[in-house]
Amino acid sequence: MATTVVVGAQWGDEAKGKIVDYLAAGADMVVRYNGGSNAGHTVVVGAEVYKFHLVPCGVLWPGVTSVIGDGEVLDPKVLIGEMDGLVARGISTSGLRISLNAHLVMPYHLLFDRLEEERKGSKAIGTTIRGIGPAYADKASRIGIRVADLMNADRFRVRLTENLSLKNDILTKVFGAEALDEKAIAGEYLGCAEKIRPFVANTSSIVHEAVAQGKRVLFEGAQGTLLDIDYGTYPFVTSSHTVAGGSTLGTGVGPMAIDRIIGVGKAYTTRVGAGVFPTELLDEIGCFIREKGKEYGTTTGRPRRCGWLDSVSLRYSAMVNGLTDHAMTLLDVLTGLDVIKVCRAYRCDGIETTKLPADWQSVSECTPIYDELPGWTEDISNVREYEDLPANCKAYLRHVEGLTGMPITIISVGADRTATIKR
Ligand code: IMP
Repeated sequence: MATTVVVGAQWGDEAKGKIVDYLAAGADMVVRYNGGSNAGHTVVVGAEVYKFHLVPCGVLWPGVTSVIGDGEVLDPKVLIGEMDGLVARGISTSGLRISLNAHLVMPYHLLFDRLEEERKGSKAIGTTIRGIGPAYADKASRIGIRVADLMNADRFRVRLTENLSLKNDILTKVFGAEALDEKAIAGEYLGCAEKIRPFVANTSSIVHEAVAQGKRVLFEGAQGTLLDIDYGTYPFVTSSHTVAGGSTLGTGVGPMAIDRIIGVGKAYTTRVGAGVFPTELLDEIGCFIREKGKEYGTTTGRPRRCGWLDSVSLRYSAMVNGLTDHAMTLLDVLTGLDVIKVCRAYRCDGIETTKLPADWQSVSECTPIYDELPGWTEDISNVREYEDLPANCKAYLRHVEGLTGMPITIISVGADRTATIKR
């Protein structure tokens, strides 16, 4: 199939980077459609570890056009740092295209992200402090500054003056912080403009053309379904459309352009930041998963909260994304556990349900109901054929498929690009 969306089916960090890289081997184009440098997509190729924040993972494959879509928010300094880092490692960025419509993350967005979190105190979201929420808020308020503005120095200066007059008032009068220096910001951002100018393009037209020509296009989502601004665990979410629908909103192609939607989900569940997490494990099994799965944030280094697989939220994910397949990652992490649990339903107000309550707030009052399966002890990290997996491991996969109703078509058993089983 020509066009495929790769979307996080949980709370992010599902190893989408690895799956995008795996699928990019046969692709013509990889387009990232949402988020900003809050994302941390890791790709391991032999001894080399690449961590992407803004650039699509497809850049590692020569000949693949990598597109930063309209729906991303860009911190130009982070972008240039990432591009320079890739070039220093011998990776060409000549196939990178950056949308004129993408909004910029400005220095005041970074400041507001931190100050607003501090002000919330115990009710803080636990954001990555990359300015993401404030940047998307300005986009929705129609005061955002876009890449197109940055490409025109006069226009950029006017937009900056307009914005700073309000932002500096809020900084000084509401937060009692120092005002930002307009000249310094203009100098820094206009310096960045010259570096990214050769890559800036009308990306929706480029993506359209590729789709129309039947090229193989991958749409790379960031974060996960349960962090979506509309469909996630609001207000403990990010500020973009993480779901598969975001792939059309964030790139400028219509919904009919999409052939396949792969939901990437771990063999267990993790979450960073605050918010509901019904299957969270606060015991030694949670610690086992965290240490074995190296469950620490790529962007912030924060320890991730860990828990059992939750088929209730996965089914929800399948529904709101229209998932056609499930790519299960980090299956090797579960090796060595005597018993593996999977949440098959919630008990809410004494009633068993396999559907998520419409109001996320009430999920915190639900308790998970688990199925228990026997674990396996065999090392599976070198397995490359489904048939070679231990019987208990295959039984676990079949059980999960039965609960979610989705076929598991890709299985990841290690960080490396090659540690992947195709079914
Ligand atoms: P923000 O996107 O930085 O505003 O953070 C909002 C919420 O989304 C916080 O709970 C973050 O921990 C979470 N979040 C943002 N980006 C990621 C990601 O790439 N992986 C996992 N969680 C994320």
